[in-house]
Amino acid sequence: MQQAQVNNAANGITGMLTFNKDYFLQTIEGPRAEINRLLYSLITDPRHHDLQVIETRELKHRAWSKWSMNYASPTEKNAAIYLKYSTTIDFNPYLLSAEAAYNLMNELSDQHD
Ligand SMILES: Cc1cc2nc3c(=O)[nH]c(=O)nc-3n(C[C@H](O)[C@H](O)[C@H](O)COP(=O)(O)O)c2cc1C
Repeated sequence: MQQAQVNNAANGITGMLTFNKDYFLQTIEGPRAEINRLLYSLITDPRHHDLQVIETRELKHRAWSKWSMNYASPTEKNAAIYLKYSTTIDFNPYLLSAEAAYNLMNELSDQHD
């Protein structure tokens, strides 16, 4: 996280990361070239497995402009937010629609304001 935050701040990338013991889900926003560079390094990192891009799109504005990389993981306090956007009891980003993933990340981030 520390390294990601330092890199992202230098590259104009902002976003949100959430994870449990099995999965990561991340939103990244910034200049297209930097987003592509970061994606390439994440995809080619042999420590990462089954990376899937859920959605890419042009933004009218950033949703995470305050954070070089905000983060949250499931707790008792935010459990209802994960469940709100999930079909399953356990958080599994592979089973989320792009819209559900975006809304989940937005609500988790609101908890950190
Ligand atoms: C789930 C996940 C998200 C990551 N997000 C970022 C990121 O937003 N920005 C970034 O520079 N690196 C990101 N990384 C890459 C790691 O932080 C990377 O290990 C770090 O840049 C340091 O590189 P090194 O471990 O090769 O020294 C991410 C890695 C993981 C597993």
